[in-house]
Amino acid sequence: MIHPDALDTRAREILRRNDRGCYTIPTSGLYPYQWNWDSAFAALGFAEFDLKRAWTELHTLMAGQWDNGMVPHIQFHEANPGYFPGPEVWGCEGLGPVASSGISQPPVAASIAWKLFRKDPEAGRDHIRALVPRFIRWHRWFMDWRTENGAVCVTHPWESGRDNAPDWDGPMAAIDPVGVGAYSRRDTTHVDPHMRPTKYDYDRYIWLVQLGRRLNWDEAALQRENPFRVADPTMTFILLRACRDLAEMAAEAGHGTAEIEGWVRTLETGARTLWNARIGAYDARDMRSGAFAGSISNASFLCWYGGLGNARMEAHLRRVLEAARFGVPSFDPEGARFDANRYWRGPVWAIMNTLIGTGLSDAGLDALADRVRAATRALIAQNGFAEYFNPFTGAPAGGGAFTWTAAVWLGWASPGKEE
Ligand code: DGY
Repeated sequence: MIHPDALDTRAREILRRNDRGCYTIPTSGLYPYQWNWDSAFAALGFAEFDLKRAWTELHTLMAGQWDNGMVPHIQFHEANPGYFPGPEVWGCEGLGPVASSGISQPPVAASIAWKLFRKDPEAGRDHIRALVPRFIRWHRWFMDWRTENGAVCVTHPWESGRDNAPDWDGPMAAIDPVGVGAYSRRDTTHVDPHMRPTKYDYDRYIWLVQLGRRLNWDEAALQRENPFRVADPTMTFILLRACRDLAEMAAEAGHGTAEIEGWVRTLETGARTLWNARIGAYDARDMRSGAFAGSISNASFLCWYGGLGNARMEAHLRRVLEAARFGVPSFDPEGARFDANRYWRGPVWAIMNTLIGTGLSDAGLDALADRVRAATRALIAQNGFAEYFNPFTGAPAGGGAFTWTAAVWLGWASPGKEE
């Protein structure tokens, strides 16, 4: 095993290598632009050795905000033919200040800004004064356009960040990707196709992008016409946590908090609508058919992060931690649709371990939190800074030299963080 100090050094090198000046790419080749939640995690990593650079990351991210408040999931700052689908496929010209995709991603940024602020309030005050109004507009966009009974919906699997999770299998099957046309994937030229979504999934991803483009990314039209509208535990718990943190940050920055506190109450009610009594767990729910997905995923275990954990979820967590060696697999290892190597259908993701572990320690479940953290530490120490990992063997999967894995090492998993 490599010495932790050497790992800290390596993690910093990865962030520096992926740094494009005022934003950070997830990894070169596979993901050559600024991704929304990847970028927020990059800030968490930079904050351990260059707090100023960490704030710059969040300012760049939020500067890509559209007039309607949405903050896109990809900002295409410079052309790169190695990626598909690029800006010409998304068709979002004129909708935002930077060429971008037309969907968002889990809003971890406000919570990370709040962490940065608490590291050095003096240095952070001007930053939060500038960023809080943007966070408020982004969160309001979710509340206005994406909530159903208070739970937050995604309009594309990519929006959830968990692209091919079994949560979307039902609504994806309801899509007939007619007319999608020929296209050529680039992801499978960078990574083993067995670790990536299938062609079946990809046809539907592109079909949904074409639909959004046809509707000019108009949220009211998408709400009416998009067959894919799924209430998602990732979005719901992360936005709930982000609103709790934003309320504190807004107060610190001299803003009113009543509207944000109202969102917290709405989202708490909404998160409870994701409780699937049949499986005794938080689950995704297709808002077109009303059907639950029947999925216990790593997003289900974000419940403590959102402040709504319970004993049933704790029992599930103990069970999956027994089954896997390296933290929380992206899907229940006992589930029929589990696949240990395929992206969000089984592998472990260090960022999800981090959010889950953070929620557990905030809820006072310290022993469980320590267990998830120790598993993540061992995972990275033994297997490096991959995008994701096999949950049983730890074998690295997807892209290598990955920004968010390096960032959560520095910000949460490194032994240095416990001193
Ligand atoms: C991809 O291209 O695989 C991304 O996950 C989309 O955000």
